[in-house]
Amino acid sequence: MQVETSSSKYGIKHYPDAIREWKKEGNYFCFYTTETILEVRVIADKIIRFRYAADGTFQRDFSYATSDTLEESPIVFGIKEWEETFEIYTDALKVFIARDNLRITITDKDGKVINQDEMGFHWQHYLQKGGKIVYCSKLVQEEECFYGLGDKPTDLNLRGKRLENYGTDAYGYQKDTDPLYRNIPFYYGLHNGIGYGIFFDNTFRTIFDFGKEREDACSFWARGGEMNYYFIYGPELLDVAASYTRITGTPELPPLWTLGYHQCRWSYYPDSRVREIAAEFRKRQIPCDVIYLDIDYMEGFRCFTWSKEYFPDPAGLIRDLAAQGFKVVVIIDPGIKVDPEYSIYQEGVKNNYFCKRADGALMEGDVWPGKCVFPDFTNPEVREWWSSLFKGLAETGVRGVWNDMNEPAVFEMGTFPEDVRHDYDGEEVSHRKAHNVYGHLMSKATAAGMKKYLLPNRPFLITRSCYAGAQRWSSVWTGDNVSSWEHLWLASIQCQRLAVSGLSFAGSDIGGFIGEPDGELYTRWIQLGAFHPLMRTHSASNETGFNQEPWSFGPDYEKIVAKFISLRYELLPYLYTTFWQYATHGTPMLRPLAFVAQHDPATHNCTHEFMMGDALLISHVSEEGMKEKAVYLPQGQWYYFWNDTVYHGGQQVTVATPLEEMPLFVKAGAVVPRYPVMQHTYETPITEMLLHVYYGDTITQSTLYEDAGDHYGYKNGQYNVINFKQASSTEQFMLKKKYFVNYETTYSHHRIILHGLPFKAGTVLIDGEPLTLTAEHHLPDGTISFIADRGFENITIHKA
Ligand code: GLC
Repeated sequence: MQVETSSSKYGIKHYPDAIREWKKEGNYFCFYTTETILEVRVIADKIIRFRYAADGTFQRDFSYATSDTLEESPIVFGIKEWEETFEIYTDALKVFIARDNLRITITDKDGKVINQDEMGFHWQHYLQKGGKIVYCSKLVQEEECFYGLGDKPTDLNLRGKRLENYGTDAYGYQKDTDPLYRNIPFYYGLHNGIGYGIFFDNTFRTIFDFGKEREDACSFWARGGEMNYYFIYGPELLDVAASYTRITGTPELPPLWTLGYHQCRWSYYPDSRVREIAAEFRKRQIPCDVIYLDIDYMEGFRCFTWSKEYFPDPAGLIRDLAAQGFKVVVIIDPGIKVDPEYSIYQEGVKNNYFCKRADGALMEGDVWPGKCVFPDFTNPEVREWWSSLFKGLAETGVRGVWNDMNEPAVFEMGTFPEDVRHDYDGEEVSHRKAHNVYGHLMSKATAAGMKKYLLPNRPFLITRSCYAGAQRWSSVWTGDNVSSWEHLWLASIQCQRLAVSGLSFAGSDIGGFIGEPDGELYTRWIQLGAFHPLMRTHSASNETGFNQEPWSFGPDYEKIVAKFISLRYELLPYLYTTFWQYATHGTPMLRPLAFVAQHDPATHNCTHEFMMGDALLISHVSEEGMKEKAVYLPQGQWYYFWNDTVYHGGQQVTVATPLEEMPLFVKAGAVVPRYPVMQHTYETPITEMLLHVYYGDTITQSTLYEDAGDHYGYKNGQYNVINFKQASSTEQFMLKKKYFVNYETTYSHHRIILHGLPFKAGTVLIDGEPLTLTAEHHLPDGTISFIADRGFENITIHKA
């Protein structure tokens, strides 16, 4: 018998009774109660997967989120039987399962509680719609903070909130609007210096309550499917992030140009306007690599067509832009216009590729082209077909695709009704199960097509909706935001949150999509965007004719905007290295302060400050007319980027914020690689790689990763990883370099720019060779600049 207690408007909740039997097979254990089964799978020392079959039968074990390369590890683990519990242990964890009710307590090796069930696994019949609602509830630990969950536009710490995942076209969303576009059912807990994560891999509508309903309970549930979650132990939050990203998959390296500046608008047309925009960037010497074509490039909004009137020669246009160093990204929506004359519509109807209602009629709804039908991307055959449609675009020269409206969005109805049928890779389900993966699988199929037809070039994808794991093939943006100061703050929060939710390659519509920013807001937004993995201006100015380009706000603003876009280009090797760390280890590119200094409670609710990579700490100017800003710095020493003033961390410091500066700090000890300013990536071959070295008196490691920036040679080892170690003292500066080099760079030397040397420099020894510093090595800003061969291994400077 099931134990039946408590009821809610959905009916009685059912709880498991005592364990009757158990078994072990390979790396998993099954515990049987009268009617239910709990499976506990040891994925790794620090990763345990729990599945609970509320009706005694497991559903198909299938996931659109997890990576194919997720290995179930053969590490040390075992089971012990105690009077009241079973204990499954690994080298890092102990998982206790209560014999009476399957409640779980997870501790570290020393018995410190990491996570503990409150009511644990339970469920109830979903009386209105059929199936079961599956629940799990945990105890909130003392002072516990919660993070994660994708793109939620709310404070970073989610304690006290209830949030939901059901992809929504949230045009003009505001602070606390929920749900938004993405569905990332993954959260972190942090208490007593211990960090862990829970990834609830369930594609139905999922809901998370972080102590809102009951202060001491954190619960999550889904309106269907299975209670199926991965528990990930840190204790460092950044390690949890890396493990989560490995579970759901790391991306390939993007082409370097995608880390440049992107210019977008709804819409640049006709072709002459696109040419004008491109020419303007070059004339004004504002770097830019990417121009987007929004829906108006198509013929009557029919996907995979070009407007004969506005874009009579797309290949010619793209070729000319390419000659000036621009790549073109085009939008592709899921809605296919109902038009018997249109080949894509014909093919889809003929082959049964479009979604149908429960009664067998086509799912029809209005989007930009008018009445549309929608491919069922959960069908592998449809994905294959969809991928094949990108051949033409790739041959025309298009280098990236922007997938939009794929929550899926339908005018008036909002989205599909729940009765719509989906293949779901052979399972045949209703929209309730497929909704949260619709855009995910659209972008997956798009990426596969673009990758195939662009070879040997790397593709670029950007999608609005997705499920956990889309980082494997796509970048994202935060959707239809608004030109307001509050939205600038939201952009910062959302990109940080996306980064720790596996989706580092994210940005916001700089300046805001809806509305018109003034020059100050636009400039402040460019400053923040310069430190987001994806830097794109976009606006919906098609109706008002308002312009949102870097030069639209007059020369004073333009100069500052150009300065920050240029700085982004100088930082490209640093950004690319940070991307490589993410792609290789799963480390988020943006790191909220709580993730870099979790032992310092002062960081737990910091929302304005974050780190981009290992060395840069950023805080954006968040209010109109702001003259100065208080910034919390974690332990350690920090250089103020603009004047090399050194600050001690572990406190709040206040810095002046004239419009041409923003709070930007560099960690002492770091080596920050920089390129000379370019108008676009590969404008000219790099002849000198700058290494900005910030003196520090504790041992500090830094990395530089480099490869061709496109193609897949790096997968065959054609790359360089250069590790720097600074081990300086108050008497001596010392920088060591160790490297793996297998890629021939175009530069043969480094220019070292040394910041903050606290003593008068004597002779410089580069691999033992003396270099006498003269006046010209001492720059007016106080730095020391000299050249070292690319192959140097050791630089020492003694006190004079
Ligand atoms: C949606 C997108 C927006 C795009 C517009 C027209 O609102 O979010 O970025 O410009 O559609 O395609």
